Amino acid sequence: MRLPSSVTVREVGTRDGFQMERAFIPTEEKIAIVDELTAAGIRRMEVTSFVSPRAVPQLADAEEVFARAARRPGVTYEVLVANARGARRAAAAGAERMLVVIAASDVFNRANVNMTMRQSLEQAAEIADVARAAGIPLIGALAAATACPYTGEVPVDRVLWLADQFVEVGVSELYVADSIGMGYPKQVQQLTAALLDRHPHLPLIVHLHNTRGMALANVMAALEVGATTFDGSIGGLGGCPFAPGASGNLCTEDLVHMLHGLDIDTGIDLDALIATSRRVEGMVGHRLEGSVVHAGKSFQPFPIPPQLLAPDGVRTVQDVEALAFKVREPGG
Ligand code: COA
Ligand code: ZN
Repeated sequence: MRLPSSVTVREVGTRDGFQMERAFIPTEEKIAIVDELTAAGIRRMEVTSFVSPRAVPQLADAEEVFARAARRPGVTYEVLVANARGARRAAAAGAERMLVVIAASDVFNRANVNMTMRQSLEQAAEIADVARAAGIPLIGALAAATACPYTGEVPVDRVLWLADQFVEVGVSELYVADSIGMGYPKQVQQLTAALLDRHPHLPLIVHLHNTRGMALANVMAALEVGATTFDGSIGGLGGCPFAPGASGNLCTEDLVHMLHGLDIDTGIDLDALIATSRRVEGMVGHRLEGSVVHAGKSFQPFPIPPQLLAPDGVRTVQDVEALAFKVREPGG
């Protein structure tokens, strides 16, 4: 198995995550979380979306959050848009990359943006014009690329067709999403490989949800065929308000924890990320789905309870090993 030596983790919690929260998160708090995440080493930050506040009321403060988040060198501040109006707002706000999303299922696309795929493609062409005029790279996001909650499994050919349409429109990067967390590793691997093979000159972002507990397995599957950029959502915040039963994004700190365990560099301070995850959980007021934040990192010893301390003063594994060594010493 050949794995990359480094991976880019793109954070989407303040967009894909926050959009699911019912209670309005104060603008100040959203900004503080963006700033903590970039301070922890996140280099690609999907800050918010410039969509209809009727569709996503939680992100009605997109302009203010985007304007007031700290700008750190080396960080790209990105946003999601669904129509040309959103693209104009993004350009006016100074977005450094924008992502246009179209679902590979017509029904799901209508649920998400009230447009057919065809209509969304027309919008994408207009969005591309706005982005080009403003000099902003455009990401073509293939949503529901594994499955649609209404029509089931999505064939790879349809995803490739949609990717081709995006390329024609002029995107400079592709993005493939298991938006509702139905994808399984073999499928995600085939899809990732097919997209990388079809458009080898375009970078690919892989966006996964953990709804059925398969996100990290899907990461492994995608890594094996050459994916090097993954989205994560702090604490595992999120889901999709337009897909029944969709929960939890792939949790950023769980992703970073696994990547570091594989000796894959992310440039991210995992402890800082865990601290932010705790803060986000307190902020939204309900338990988040991340594992590491609750269980602790692997190999991080807990303090030994007094009743488990051996009476002979042997306290740690190291003590036991030292003792064993002593026994084996000649004359010992
Ligand atoms: N920014 C701000 N407001 C917008 C907007 C934008 N980009 N696009 C539309 N609006 C406003 C309209 O002015 C209208 O407001 P009004 O009711 O006060 O007049 C309202 O939103 C509805 O607009 P309309 O053009 O009738 O669109 P719609 O109701 O068919 O919805 C979208 C289409 C695309 C605007 C909407 O579905 C949307 O924003 N979806 C985004 C969903 C999303 O973010 N999903 C998660 C990402 S995968
Ligand atoms: Zn998502």
